[in-house]
Amino acid sequence: MNNPQLNKNGELQHLLSTEGLPARILLDILDRAAGFVGGVDSNEIKKVPLLQGKSVFNIFFENSTRTRTTFEIAAKRLSADVVNLNIGSSSTSKGETLLDTVDNLCAMHADMFIVRHSQSGAAHLIARHVAPNIHVINAGDGRHAHPTQALLDMYTIRHYKREFHNLRVAIVGDVLHSRVARSQIHALTTLGVPEVRVIAPKTLLPTDVEKLGVHVYHDMAQGLKDVDVVMMLRLQNERMQGALLPSAQEFFKYYGLTQDKLAQARPDAIVMHPGPMNRGVEIDSSVADGSHSVILPQVTFGIAVRMAVMSLLAER
Ligand code: CP
Repeated sequence: MNNPQLNKNGELQHLLSTEGLPARILLDILDRAAGFVGGVDSNEIKKVPLLQGKSVFNIFFENSTRTRTTFEIAAKRLSADVVNLNIGSSSTSKGETLLDTVDNLCAMHADMFIVRHSQSGAAHLIARHVAPNIHVINAGDGRHAHPTQALLDMYTIRHYKREFHNLRVAIVGDVLHSRVARSQIHALTTLGVPEVRVIAPKTLLPTDVEKLGVHVYHDMAQGLKDVDVVMMLRLQNERMQGALLPSAQEFFKYYGLTQDKLAQARPDAIVMHPGPMNRGVEIDSSVADGSHSVILPQVTFGIAVRMAVMSLLAER
């Protein structure tokens, strides 16, 4: 099937989703990111001229702390000119359409758009609309996809676990409303993780989730047994319609990650969370800040991974 992210030579033209991306492209991004990580970890962070003369527009129609900021840092490290459109004070509030906004930014010589939007498919719409020399990166669209989050998660897993082919990975929590979970599942299965589990109450799982190649658990003790990686998710209250849970306290009792529940996982298991975290809802502070947590390194690796994606696209 035609993949709108790839050009006619099978190269990455836009990054819209991890679904349908071949392993060679995912691995290329992880390998490129590794080349930037030395710089990210050192005190003196080197700037490289790979995007010199290019203009990157961050257009975020939804709030963000990590993604917007790390894209900005990454673009600056690549020597791009970065424009952060302030949607609250933009002409969107006067009724301008998304594509009219994009056309106007293209008239300002945008080379790359980083797009976050509450509507699934918004980044696809822009990618289909813009000229072939302009690249679009999906920074999260509705419940659909958040590909750079999944890629930085894959980077983090490879950093701590080295290989994908021998891992048991559990994704825990509100899978139903999570664009992160969908992108993680596609990336993990493409990279050859043999056992991907989802752990959640039935009300927080999509119908037919097994068709994505995952094993379903409703019990934390069973689902976490002997896993190498635990990927926690936030309860996405802003996307819930109706009462899917009795209460946050009840959710924490059964699905919140505590030291006791984590003891079921392998002794060297890592705990991940894309952020923002809700302490005491999906994760206990003693785990979030504990020795298994790699939650803050995930954020740091996000800079290198986003540099890798932007530099790859800029070569097209
Ligand atoms: N993980 C993530 O997307 O965080 P932000 O919403 O802060 O960008």
